[in-house]
Amino acid sequence: MTEGNAGKRDMRHPALNHCHLFLGGALLLLLASPALSCPARCECSAQSKSVSCHRKRLPTIPEGIPIETRVLDLSKNKLRIITPDNFSSFQQLEDLDLSDNLISVVEPGSFRSQLALRSLNFRSNLIQLVPAGVLSGLTNLTRLDLSHNRLVVLLDHAFQDLRTMASLEVGDNELVFISQRAFTGLLGLQSLTLERSNLTVVPTDALAHLHSLVELRLRYLSISFLKPFSFKRLSRLRRLEIDYWPWLETLPPLSLHGLNLTMLCITNTNLSAFPGAALRNLPYLTHLNLSYSRIQHIHHGELGPLPHLVELHLQGAQLISIEPFAFVGLKSLQLLDVSQNRLDSLESGVFASPDSLQRLCLGGNPLMCDCRLLWLLNSHKPPSLQILDVQPECSGPEHLLGNLSVTSRSLWSPDT
Ligand SMILES: *[C@@H]1O[C@H](CO)[C@@H](O)[C@H](O)[C@H]1NC(C)=O
Ligand SMILES: *[C@@H]1O[C@H](CO)[C@@H](O)[C@H](O)[C@H]1NC(C)=O
Ligand SMILES: *[C@@H]1O[C@H](CO)[C@@H](O)[C@H](O)[C@H]1NC(C)=O
Ligand SMILES: *[C@@H]1O[C@H](CO)[C@@H](O)[C@H](O)[C@H]1NC(C)=O
Ligand SMILES: *[C@@H]1O[C@H](CO)[C@@H](O)[C@H](O)[C@H]1NC(C)=O
Ligand SMILES: *[C@@H]1O[C@H](CO)[C@@H](O)[C@H](O)[C@H]1NC(C)=O
Ligand SMILES: *[C@@H]1O[C@H](CO)[C@@H](O)[C@H](O)[C@H]1NC(C)=O
Repeated sequence: MTEGNAGKRDMRHPALNHCHLFLGGALLLLLASPALSCPARCECSAQSKSVSCHRKRLPTIPEGIPIETRVLDLSKNKLRIITPDNFSSFQQLEDLDLSDNLISVVEPGSFRSQLALRSLNFRSNLIQLVPAGVLSGLTNLTRLDLSHNRLVVLLDHAFQDLRTMASLEVGDNELVFISQRAFTGLLGLQSLTLERSNLTVVPTDALAHLHSLVELRLRYLSISFLKPFSFKRLSRLRRLEIDYWPWLETLPPLSLHGLNLTMLCITNTNLSAFPGAALRNLPYLTHLNLSYSRIQHIHHGELGPLPHLVELHLQGAQLISIEPFAFVGLKSLQLLDVSQNRLDSLESGVFASPDSLQRLCLGGNPLMCDCRLLWLLNSHKPPSLQILDVQPECSGPEHLLGNLSVTSRSLWSPDT
């Protein structure tokens, strides 16, 4: 039934424009008007030159899409295979959404006429391979989403020519291997997220081709080890996020060498020692987040000078002690978050200058309220210091149990 209807609507298909020979001039004008040409089950806007056929159970691309369409949404259908025939008429496409289909094959040359394409979305399909050349010529493409597919490898030159691409999504695949030249040609890529895949090593050589990369997120990976010089030739990289690597236990001294980061997050890992040595050559670091790890101690001398570090987050680790002078190299430190640890104290002597500290999170620690915490009392604490999270509580000695500020004011009475 559906197929029959589609056949009758062929009159409006651009390939059949010769039918104007049989029609009057007035009708021809109407036919040429984009407002009239719209596939039966889709919604079209002549003004924005957009066609939406979202969630229509379409097994193939419907007939009747105006050739001047710029934005085409074919998401949530049952499309299975893309060949060079499918889009050849639509040379003005800028934004093509093919997400949530059943596409397993995209033949080389499928987009050779879509030179204006800026955004191409293949999220949630069944694609196993991106053969070299499938995307060649798409020099205006800035956004490509291949996440949630069945990619196991990324082959050499898969993204060749995509020199304006700013954002590439390849997460949620079963990637086990990224070939050395897979990312060549991505000269403009500034941000990359590799997440939820089966990689067991950092694809160092492949990443080394991303000369413009500023931000790299590596999340939900089963990588247990970082080799020395894991990140090479990424001279523009400023922000590195390693999150949810449950098997990562150490960060060897040279693993981050060669990078010049301002922000580093290594969170939700099994790190057991403070990775001081690995941070030595990151003098421009301003933000460091090592939350949710098994780090227990920060020893004096472990952290070298980080003169620009403004924020240090070490929430939800297993910190037992921070030795005096541990933070003397952190001359710019404004925020320290050591909440949800096992600290029984935090002495002012850990800081280079406690007076420059502005914000402190200390909740969720079994603090002992003795003279080591005196500097945090309302009347003693540095004037600009705010305690941000829940009021720290004393867990001992027994007669001082309760909120630090309340208890201390009434019992220590430092003003009297
Ligand atoms: C693309 O065209 C081929 C025929 O060349 C057809 O088999 C296939 O179903 C078309 N794909 C879509 C998504 O319409
Ligand atoms: C690519 O983008 C540029 C700048 O937006 C534009 O001038 C050019 O026409 C586009 N190329 C194609 C083939 O549409
Ligand atoms: C990726 O890992 C998942 C979960 O461990 C596993 O089921 C799947 O077979 C792996 N895929 C490949 C290609 O190794
Ligand atoms: C994390 O380290 C602990 C202690 O060595 C170990 O028992 C645990 O299995 C590790 N977890 C993972 C996910 O490797
Ligand atoms: C490192 O990064 C900082 C901050 O972005 C910058 O000022 C400095 O010039 C960079 N150094 C090198 C060698 O690139
Ligand atoms: C630090 O990392 C933890 C864990 O990923 C996150 O919850 C927290 O928001 C991060 N803090 C900052 C300031 O980025
Ligand atoms: C501690 O402070 C919290 C909120 O600031 C308050 O709800 C709680 O009652 C206080 N506990 C004591 C023992 O003063």
